[in-house]
Amino acid sequence: MKSRILLAFSVLLSFGQTAGDRVLPGSPLPGIRSRELELFRLGLEDFIAIETAEDGLGPSFNGNSCASCHSVPAVGGISTMTEVRAGHRDEDGKFTVLNGGTLYHLFSIPPHQCQVQIPAEANVIARRAPIALFGDGLIEAIPDQTIIALEDPEDRDGDGVKGRAARLTDVATGHPRIGRFGWKAQHATLLAFSADAYMNEMGITNDLFREEAALGITPEQLKRCSPKRGIEDVRNRRTGLRSIDNFENFMRLLAPIGRGPIDSEVRAGDGLFKSTGCATCHTPLLMTGPNVNPLFDSQRVELYADLLLHNIGTGDGIEQEPATGEEIRTPALWGLRFRRSLLHDGSAATAEEAIRRHGGEAKRALDRFTELTDKDRRALIHFLDSL
Ligand code: HEC
Ligand code: HEC
Repeated sequence: MKSRILLAFSVLLSFGQTAGDRVLPGSPLPGIRSRELELFRLGLEDFIAIETAEDGLGPSFNGNSCASCHSVPAVGGISTMTEVRAGHRDEDGKFTVLNGGTLYHLFSIPPHQCQVQIPAEANVIARRAPIALFGDGLIEAIPDQTIIALEDPEDRDGDGVKGRAARLTDVATGHPRIGRFGWKAQHATLLAFSADAYMNEMGITNDLFREEAALGITPEQLKRCSPKRGIEDVRNRRTGLRSIDNFENFMRLLAPIGRGPIDSEVRAGDGLFKSTGCATCHTPLLMTGPNVNPLFDSQRVELYADLLLHNIGTGDGIEQEPATGEEIRTPALWGLRFRRSLLHDGSAATAEEAIRRHGGEAKRALDRFTELTDKDRRALIHFLDSL
């Protein structure tokens, strides 16, 4: 039985509140119907539930609840933690996955005989920061074709910006899809990401990720460390839902963070964001497709991202399908004012620092940013602070 924490109740009581006409972070999508609100509540409850070894946590893991890494400024957000990926790159640049994976868990359950260790052959070690989940249901509802229409892998228009759609097979359906979630655009659906995270962040096996894993730990050792047998994420008798369904529902129905106050400097900064070339990758608006659910039917998604893979010179060297070591998916900038630190590895303290790290495909945009007058640069940053 999962332990529920009191926080659950305060969170449950507060959601749906608005400040003026603004939706508070952590609220469900405006217009949500009662059946969906119930699914959102169940999802939130499971998302914040602390798992133990008896629930299947571990034997090695990165966190004991989804919310342990997704909670700032509200459940569904980010946290200050980063996780570790590692591998080997030889002199010719060929990347090799060691021990069958690249994600090295930070923790293990007592008596810690399955604590993973980065092997001596690893010469690439990279950190990854959490990504906020606000508005992810709208991002999921953007048609693949919309993302494909934005790609330009050969740079045919000669603007220096390429961008490649992340072609992959969705583990939830087995269908070919365009990835959009994760720093490497490694998943197309929230169900697939939920199942991946449940297994790979928390060590809880489920219908989509059935094998327990701890890098470098032998199968025999793993059996001794993992007290639970079989699939650990089973359907709840009362609701008929698996935890991975609950996580999917919570994230799908979680509202995006609304814009902050917009003054004349913000408006000026908005114009500069476009004229500087930032909007080429940080696409201000995408639309969801036709959808039987009105919450997702032809909705505006003001995410500030094209969801494509780019090489802007910040790549972490980790090859992870569908991305190369150099590629990172353009992060959405909505909700930016609530996020620190920035970049995939959390290495930038401020938006300006993150911008100054742009190179490669974003070199021209960076040059134009650098050439701005101090006043214009301040306006652009002020605009980012309104997102
Ligand atoms: C140990 C910290 C940690 C825990 C626990 C964790 N996450 Fe994450 N989450 C991350 C990090 C780090 C990323 C970025 C990973 C990447 O792309 O490599 C991420 C990314 C995501 C994304 C992609 C969001 C987007 O818009 O691109 C989703 C969805 C997600 N997590 C859901 C979950 C769910 C559901 C759980 C619980 C089953 C969970 N996470 C548990 C750290 C965590
Ligand atoms: C060629 C595409 C491209 C262009 C042009 C571009 N960016 Fe980015 N931007 C990215 C990618 C990719 C990342 C993620 C890099 C990473 O994390 O390593 C990023 C990250 C960021 C971040 C950090 C976001 C976060 O959540 O960590 C900010 C802020 C940002 N860009 C602002 C800008 C601004 C302002 C401009 C214009 C001066 C700009 N970008 C131009 C692709 C681009």
